[in-house]
Amino acid sequence: MSNTSEFKRHRRLRSSASMRSLVRETTLSTDDFIYPLFILEGTNIKNEVPSMPGVFQVTLDRLEEELKEIHELGIKAIMLFGVPNEKDEEGTGAFIAEGIVQQATRKVKTGYPDILVVADTCLCEYTSHGHCGLIHNHDVDNDASLPLLAKTAVSQAEAGADIIAPSNMMDGFVTVIRHALDEAGYTNIPIMSYAVKYASAFYGPFRDAADSTPQFGDRKTYQMDPANRQEALREAESDVAEGADFLIVKPALSYLDIVRDVKNNTNVPVVAYNVSGEYSMVKAAALNGWINEKELVMEKLTSMKRAGADLIITYFAKDVAKWLNEK
Ligand code: PBG
Repeated sequence: MSNTSEFKRHRRLRSSASMRSLVRETTLSTDDFIYPLFILEGTNIKNEVPSMPGVFQVTLDRLEEELKEIHELGIKAIMLFGVPNEKDEEGTGAFIAEGIVQQATRKVKTGYPDILVVADTCLCEYTSHGHCGLIHNHDVDNDASLPLLAKTAVSQAEAGADIIAPSNMMDGFVTVIRHALDEAGYTNIPIMSYAVKYASAFYGPFRDAADSTPQFGDRKTYQMDPANRQEALREAESDVAEGADFLIVKPALSYLDIVRDVKNNTNVPVVAYNVSGEYSMVKAAALNGWINEKELVMEKLTSMKRAGADLIITYFAKDVAKWLNEK
């Protein structure tokens, strides 16, 4: 047939599993993942988060079980969130030496020095009102919150955190935290900034897990409007200028255009946060037998890397590490 040369045969490169592996452009590795952990104050508790099947809040004495598993699976980094017993107006639990995240950090670094501890630097898990900064006149006061965030970052570094990840969305947090870390001698501790964080309904299950739902209002005066794209570049640009070493885009799945924009317009590692709601939706569908969980999760995380993410913060990290190790 002479006319077969008139069209392209793309299927040649899809003809077998080996051929497809040979030309695959994006692959996942356990090195790509950061696994979030919720540390609960108290003793001997391991609570499954009802809206996040497979994700647990653990007390310090039960942390070892998680760490052992994470280590054996080859996951290199964890992100710590605290669930304290007591909260106050200022979020004191975020920055005291005996804070739950500080204690957990010391524990990780003693038992598993090779696991990188990423500390989420925010006040919302520790404030009685559930907002990410100090409240004045029914809104979060940007500049008054900055010193508390800086104190939180320094206390996390003192406890041994390897990376500081500020998620509070106050303007200037990278400058203030960088300065405070440097002053305290932590010039080598990088900042992984939640530079591009949208006010998203996808955080619902996390707020159950971390008990951090705002007690009034919402986070729309500090987190970004999901309708905006240019604004993401302004946020990314200012955080890089202020000294951010990594940039987080959050959530991930509905924001892959933003991941690509940030990747194309900056030269620091880009991190996609595959958030709680993105996890819960998949788990719910999987538990109903409506989807193939493994295939769907692999596709979803691959698409985040394809979009430009260098790293992914994900509650699926352990599952994916197991699947990758099976191969
Ligand atoms: C703290 C913080 C939140 C998440 C990470 N850090 C909650 C929020 O901003 O309300 C959400 C993570 C997730 O949904 O998985 N500010």
